This record gives sequence, structure tokens and C-alpha cells, in this order.
Amino acid sequence: MSSEPKPQILFSREEIEVAVKKLAAEIKRDYQNKNPLLIGILKGSFVFMADLIRLLDFPLEVEFVQLSSYGRGRSTPGELKVVQGLRSQIRDRDVLVVEDIVDTGHSSAFLLDYLQKEKPASLRLCALTDKPSRRQVSVNIDYLGFTVPDKFIVGYGIDWDEKFRNLPDICTLGDDK
Ligand code: IMP
Ligand code: MG
Repeated sequence: MSSEPKPQILFSREEIEVAVKKLAAEIKRDYQNKNPLLIGILKGSFVFMADLIRLLDFPLEVEFVQLSSYGRGRSTPGELKVVQGLRSQIRDRDVLVVEDIVDTGHSSAFLLDYLQKEKPASLRLCALTDKPSRRQVSVNIDYLGFTVPDKFIVGYGIDWDEKFRNLPDICTLGDDK
């Protein structure tokens, strides 16, 4: 057996539930009459998106896009590309991007820029977690769940090498990942 790192709970499922409820209340206040389009970034946002939308009791639509970053290291962005793009028109729509983590900021900045070119009526970012200590490009987060320390996190949809997405809590994996 390989020695896999052992996850330690950083935010429990109960704390996540409280945070997602708070975000849902803020989003409802701002979007309930706007039929917004929520765009999740695959794969990390899928669990968060699933919980979030079930707390939003008004009309909305959901899309997903996937980015790939060729040659990406932990601190180097690599070349970002949209590998699965939009299937809906976003022109004149109120668009809310749903992210798992804003880390260096490159992915969110790239995606917001890409979406802005399609001329949505409004474009905002909701991030479950933010690691401001690692930021390289500035990104404005309109709705934020948790600020996290400079540690690698997994769980609640977030992976390490495609593993640990199924953990119900947000966990750290130690400092070396
Ligand atoms: P950024 O472009 O550096 O802001 O990175 C954003 C993406 O990198 C996130 O959406 C995650 O997919 C991944 N990422 C950044 N930090 C972590 C982490 O601590 N755990 C797992 N994935 C991470
Ligand atoms: Mg991601």
C-alpha cells in the first residue's frame, strides 16, 4: 500500500452547512427576481453547487465549464484553456460563477475575462474558499464561504490527484502538497 496523506478536518460538514446557508441567503437577496445563470467550474465545484442550488428557492439555471491548465505546477499557472465550454447564451444574463477555491487567482481571472467578452448583464464570483496568501492576480470575490490558510485542502468536491472529492468535510492534507 502506498502511504497516502491523512486528511485532517479544517471545516466540518456542520460548518460547511452554515456557510452555504449564509451564501444562499446573500445570493437570494441579490438574484431572486433575475433568473440567474450559475456557472460551476468543474470539477471542484460540483458538490458545493449541488448544495447551494437546493437552498435557492427561485428560478435559476445551471451550467458547468471546465478549464485545463497545461504544464501547471502548484505556483505556476500554465496555459489556461476552456476544455468544456458554455452551452447557453450568456449575453444579457445575470451570471454567477461558482468556484471551489481561489488560490493564485489565475483560473478565476481567466474565466471571468472569458465570460465578460460575451457581454452578460452582470458577472459575479461566488467562491467556497479563498487562499489570499497565494494570490498572484487580483480577483474580486463577491460571495465567500471560508478564508483558508496556505495549506492544501481536499474534500467536499475538492481533490488531490482526483482523490478525496468524496469527503464530506473540508480537510487539510499537510503542508507538503
Ligand atoms: P488558481 O488558478 O491558482 O486560483 O487555482 C484554482 C484551482 O486550483 C482551484 O479551482 C482548484 O481546482 C485548484 N486548487 C488550488 N488550491 C487547491 C487546494 O488547496 N486543493 C485542491 N485544489 C486546489
Ligand atoms: Mg478548480
